[in-house]
Amino acid sequence: MASIVEEIINMLEFYEPQADFGTPEIESETMVTLSIDGADVTVPEGTSVMRAAAEKGIKIPRLCATDSLKSFGSCRVCLVEIEGRRGFPASCTTNVEEGMQVVTQSSEIGKLRRNVMELYISDHPLDCLTCPTNGDCQLQDTAGEVGLRSVRYGFEGDNHLVAEKDESNPYFTFDPSKCIVCSRCVRACEETQGTFALTIDGRGFESKVSAGQSEDFMDSDCVSCGACVAACPTATLTEKSIIEAGKPEHSVITTCAYCGVGCSFKAEMKGNDVVRMTPYKDGKANEGHACVKGRFAFGYATHKDRITQPMIRESIHDPWQEVSWETAVNHTAKRFKEIQAKYGRTSIGAISSSRCTNEEVYLVQKMVRMGFGNNNIDTCARVCHSPTGFGLKTTLGESAGTQTFASVAKADVIIVMGANPTEAHPVFGSRLKRRLREGAKLIVIDPREIELVNSPHISADFHLPVRPGTNVTVLNALAHVIVKEGLQASTYIEDRCEMDEFEKWSAFISDDRHSPENTEQFSGVPACDLRAAARLYAEGGNGAIFYGLGVTEHSQGSTAVMAIANLAMLTGNVGREGVGVNPLRGQNNVQGSCDMGSFPHELPGYRHISNKVTRNLFEGEWGVTLDPEPGLRIPNMFDAAIDGEFKGLYCQGEDIAQSDPNTQHVETALSSMECLVVQDIFLNETAKFAHVFLPGASFLEKDGTFTNAERRISRVRKTMPPLSGKADWEGTMALANALGCKFQYDHPSEIMDEIARLTPTFNGVSYAKLDKLGSIQWPCNDHTPAGTPVMHVDEFVRGKGFFAITEYVPTEERANRKFPLLLTTGRILSQYNVGAQTRRTKNSEWHEEDTLEIHPHDAEERGIKHGDWVGIKSRVGNTVLHADVTSRVKPGVVYTTFHHPVSGANVITTDNSDWATNCPEFKVTAVQISKVTAPSRWQERQKMFNTQQQHLLAKARH
Ligand code: SF4
Ligand code: SF4
Ligand code: SF4
Ligand code: FES
Repeated sequence: MASIVEEIINMLEFYEPQADFGTPEIESETMVTLSIDGADVTVPEGTSVMRAAAEKGIKIPRLCATDSLKSFGSCRVCLVEIEGRRGFPASCTTNVEEGMQVVTQSSEIGKLRRNVMELYISDHPLDCLTCPTNGDCQLQDTAGEVGLRSVRYGFEGDNHLVAEKDESNPYFTFDPSKCIVCSRCVRACEETQGTFALTIDGRGFESKVSAGQSEDFMDSDCVSCGACVAACPTATLTEKSIIEAGKPEHSVITTCAYCGVGCSFKAEMKGNDVVRMTPYKDGKANEGHACVKGRFAFGYATHKDRITQPMIRESIHDPWQEVSWETAVNHTAKRFKEIQAKYGRTSIGAISSSRCTNEEVYLVQKMVRMGFGNNNIDTCARVCHSPTGFGLKTTLGESAGTQTFASVAKADVIIVMGANPTEAHPVFGSRLKRRLREGAKLIVIDPREIELVNSPHISADFHLPVRPGTNVTVLNALAHVIVKEGLQASTYIEDRCEMDEFEKWSAFISDDRHSPENTEQFSGVPACDLRAAARLYAEGGNGAIFYGLGVTEHSQGSTAVMAIANLAMLTGNVGREGVGVNPLRGQNNVQGSCDMGSFPHELPGYRHISNKVTRNLFEGEWGVTLDPEPGLRIPNMFDAAIDGEFKGLYCQGEDIAQSDPNTQHVETALSSMECLVVQDIFLNETAKFAHVFLPGASFLEKDGTFTNAERRISRVRKTMPPLSGKADWEGTMALANALGCKFQYDHPSEIMDEIARLTPTFNGVSYAKLDKLGSIQWPCNDHTPAGTPVMHVDEFVRGKGFFAITEYVPTEERANRKFPLLLTTGRILSQYNVGAQTRRTKNSEWHEEDTLEIHPHDAEERGIKHGDWVGIKSRVGNTVLHADVTSRVKPGVVYTTFHHPVSGANVITTDNSDWATNCPEFKVTAVQISKVTAPSRWQERQKMFNTQQQHLLAKARH
């Protein structure tokens, strides 16, 4: 036995993980100096001896400690000697003291550590040479560090070596035979993720890690975030990709391409293949945490459905013809020019993508303005957060959130409105939960009982279950209570806001029609709860508001955003840490695509196209004359297409046929076009109507930057060459040049340099600075060279804050006898947006189909049982889904997700939209629900059309 142990330890190939200091960093103004192994170390009070040693470069062996978790003190490997103390205290649970004298190595310490390790190893399989984490195992490392050379105890006694593996999770295995019961996984699930899915069952020798009530991982509450896997010091919890492919050989730091949290990852590679995505500890948005999408769902990038060759066809009923890039872009340029010659300069346009990089989005709008000679450029932000841009610009002066995510750690009262962070922004959701467990108060304003309302160790102080379409009444009523009860921050308002406007607004909001007792009839929110919630927000200390699409995707989306900003100014909750107005952006680069001038009325940096000075700046750089007239928004493009005036569209990385409302209207518009060009990684629903397909590149295949919901610009770095030979920016550049533009960029950094030259909020941004700082929150310029974590600190960007009048105007979409229920929509953790990527990963094991949530009362009235097929009929269309009978929704409200094309959730949503920005009213559709036995006519048609299009694609590929 001794020889095997020795052999294994000698075989150690040390793997270099990110530095681990053993216990978390402590913030304290008081510093303490001690001596460790004769060297003086000065650290903040409250730091552990283990961390103090690590900061001096002295590594103390450890198993149960890691710096992402609170110290626990169970393994006893980290023992040290401290002068004047009896015994050998654990360095991870002992805090530093002034003048302390610590010794980390002595023969006695060594002997004790070896004894502990011997016990661990005597119940651990010695299969290191064939173990998937050989060389990346802290048990193995620690055996080496303590000098273990033999184990006196055999395997004859009781042991756990034959314990059965749990392979139920699609992405990682749990092999209890290798578990040392250090509890790191249990603590990671509690402290980092906040799910509490794991426990240690039993005591002593019997103790073991258990998911839920001895269920397997897949049946437990586990949400597959991977925090336990990252924390496990042995091979017990291991990624299946590592088991299959082996240890990575190099890594690249990049940014997740899913949601607006913008987590940093180490893409760990073997050659050009990603074998693991490890959340990056130095990533400021995520600090080493991740969710199931970014952590595990990257397989879509090499899925067999990827299209890597450009294709063209005359009609959508023809087979595709694979062609070279050159042929495809020349053909497109010729078709676009012919269309403009026939139908006019404004008959073509483009849609840029919030999935693509800032540099790519910038190039698309530049190509439209230079090459198309118009401003018909819009972005998918139109259908999600355009009201945020309008509402925050109007009131505060800047179209972006005010804080860092980390700032929530200083919030005392948190309002979450129309957002579901634990499903849609999971890593931020975990941060939020941590703060709530520390005692912050929570007000949830949402028609559904989202997870935050009631989950392990968390319950909302108030859940205001607002009826869809009446957000403005609730926000106005909150402000009414604060003003009428004199709870406003008067000095702050006097110092920082336009007083004339405030007085007008104050008179408006004080009117009795905004009282909770009056608004209850519209919103359904009990007046007493609303009053109490208003008092809590106004008087509870730092108040932070986080909101999502449940605020913006309404006919009064912009009004609601302004009402939120009013509330924050009213209570003095803008301009410092722990407060603010924080839009939770949906897609990875929604903020960036808006910043980069993707709207038809704005050049980069939110400057109006009609402004001559701004136009001159861009005209000087680009060498063209720009059209001063704003172009078409996406819905206007559809209407103009149906009217025969809009005939050509370049749509990059956006699936409008699935994501936009009133699908049948969108399909008619797409069918009316003469040249629809789609650039994407898959044949998405929109591409089925296309005449030209340009293959897109996944985030792993390109360089660039994304900007997350905190305004944080982070690098996206290429890990593999683009499968089609061109990154998206190169494809756009080729098309622009075929149209006669003279774009000349050798690397996206040069595009960023141009953006920085032309955009005051980006003046100080460069790839060199991003590489140095890791990430930058704009504005970044001469005044704020390292970026701006908190905005509006001394004054608002617009100077004085503006209280906008926010009159409630009921939506035209009303429930009546024919359509008595209100449908609202949302997202689920495992799937992402239209699902094009996540449906092509094992994430579908959690969510194979979209279902309709309906309250038991409403279901019973209609004779509907859980799992029945139900027809959902609105004024514009109908579709069929399985019923999920649940009291998560209130009576009168039904809910679904929109991740699967066959569900046709948007067949039923209407053309109603926000008065200011045309953001669709996805969140309110009056519907009737009935039990049915067959799919809807649209679903039958969609199935046939899909089969036909797949057939035409297969022919081309064959
Ligand atoms: S599974 Fe890993 S982290 Fe959890 S107790 Fe076992 S060894 Fe420790
Ligand atoms: S994967 Fe995440 S949620 Fe699941 S058990 Fe591990 S830490 Fe908990
Ligand atoms: S929270 Fe968002 S950015 Fe982070 S890993 Fe998950 S999907 Fe990616
Ligand atoms: S590392 Fe200190 S007791 Fe385990």
